[in-house]
Amino acid sequence: MKIAVVGAGLMGGGIAQVSALAGHEVTLQDVGQESLARGKDTIAASLAKFADKGRISQDEAEAALDRIRPTTDLEAVGDADIVVEAVFEKLEIKADVFRRLDAICADSAVLATNTSAIPITTIAAVTERPEMVVGTHFFSPVPLMKLCELVRGYKTSDQTMDRARDFAEGVGKTVVVVNRDVAGFVTTRLITALAMEAIALVESGVASAEDVDTACRLGFGHAMGPLETADMTGVDIIFNATSNIYADSQDEKFSPPEILRRMVTAGDLGRKTGRGFYDYS
Ligand SMILES: NC(=O)c1ccc[n+]([C@@H]2O[C@H](COP(=O)([O-])OP(=O)(O)OC[C@H]3O[C@@H](n4cnc5c(N)ncnc54)[C@H](O)[C@@H]3O)[C@@H](O)[C@H]2O)c1
Repeated sequence: MKIAVVGAGLMGGGIAQVSALAGHEVTLQDVGQESLARGKDTIAASLAKFADKGRISQDEAEAALDRIRPTTDLEAVGDADIVVEAVFEKLEIKADVFRRLDAICADSAVLATNTSAIPITTIAAVTERPEMVVGTHFFSPVPLMKLCELVRGYKTSDQTMDRARDFAEGVGKTVVVVNRDVAGFVTTRLITALAMEAIALVESGVASAEDVDTACRLGFGHAMGPLETADMTGVDIIFNATSNIYADSQDEKFSPPEILRRMVTAGDLGRKTGRGFYDYS
């Protein structure tokens, strides 16, 4: 199968890598020559690591790398059976990419998006083929994380869901199906709901951040507590995620608590700024 990936960043590079390893010819497109070179280097380094660990052979690593064709020309994705978009999480950028893909790609091509939160229906609506647009939500790092959320837009056809499932399973992922493209899908909704309750417990003085995280780690076997996770992901990212879900659902449990809003305004965004729910300075 011919696969095209648009956006050679963290996620696009990973999706290109697993696709090439599964034997697909891959066109990897990005607007930036530098991003493209960085993307290809990251893929080469990751494949080399897999080979060093004996998880794939040296030949397999080299063959996979050879199957990836980097380009800055979007027209080059025109022969793909499935295109996976993984550009910045901005609706106007994704909408522009999908409008152009719709014009460039064969009528039979499935157009998939790796968006984390934008409803698939919103992206599909800019095309003349909304029945062939689907969400394939991979997780980072793509070569290691086994999950792909398959998200159905309002008009996505069963055939498109089947083709996207075959692709995702073919690159080694386990698929969970999200039958309606509610904001946050299943995974972001779950993790956000837990984070909002954890923040509310800390805000109201019921427990400290440390104790809430310890409760989740030792009580539930989570690898990290929700507040440590928020600091690692970025307090602003969590804020944006919950705000988007709240705007879409009007469900009060996603309404951002006051402390979260203040932290974002004050610039306490977690590890990346040295302070979030914990102090890293
Ligand atoms: N990072 C994660 O953990 C994660 C997890 C799941 C889903 N996602 C989603 O995946 C998508 C990509 O995220 P990422 O973390 O890989 O971002 P990133 O910033 O690492 O990469 C985005 C890439 O898109 C390129 N790009 C921007 N505009 C473009 C255009 N018009 N045409 C072609 N390329 C363009 C950029 O040059 C960049 O290389 C986003 O929608 C994000 O929400 C991210």
